[in-house]
Amino acid sequence: QQQNLPVDDRLQELCELLKETIPYYTWVGFYFKNGDKEELKLGPYAGEPTDHTIIPFGKGICGQVAVSNQNFVVPDVAAQDNYIACNIHVKAEIVVPLFINGENIGQIDIDSNTPDPFTQDDERFLEWVNEQVAEILR
Ligand code: SME
Repeated sequence: QQQNLPVDDRLQELCELLKETIPYYTWVGFYFKNGDKEELKLGPYAGEPTDHTIIPFGKGICGQVAVSNQNFVVPDVAAQDNYIACNIHVKAEIVVPLFINGENIGQIDIDSNTPDPFTQDDERFLEWVNEQVAEILR
């Protein structure tokens, strides 16, 4: 049944599931490369709406991951100078790139209102989530 839902609906449900299941996942969303532009565009998400629906490459944690192709774990957002605040309550963030055939096509972005909550288990888990999402998008 889930297989028949449009991709965006499935990703939306995934975001909601992650947010509801993991208490310190306060905001869960996907950003994708916006066509040929050097920017990210907000995709499905769960949590408070954000003004940052477009993020240029290099800007903020998300924009840096678009360029570095590496996980970015931020234990304390106040200690980052290249950071885009979406919500004043956010304390920490993790961004994990999403690859299709080795190409970084977007990312999962998670904000937490809990300080320093993310471990290597979150990184491994979110890498696995993104592999499943890549199968949906492929
Ligand atoms: N904090 C992110 C911007 C996206 S919001 O967290 C939803 C950043 O610095 O890239």
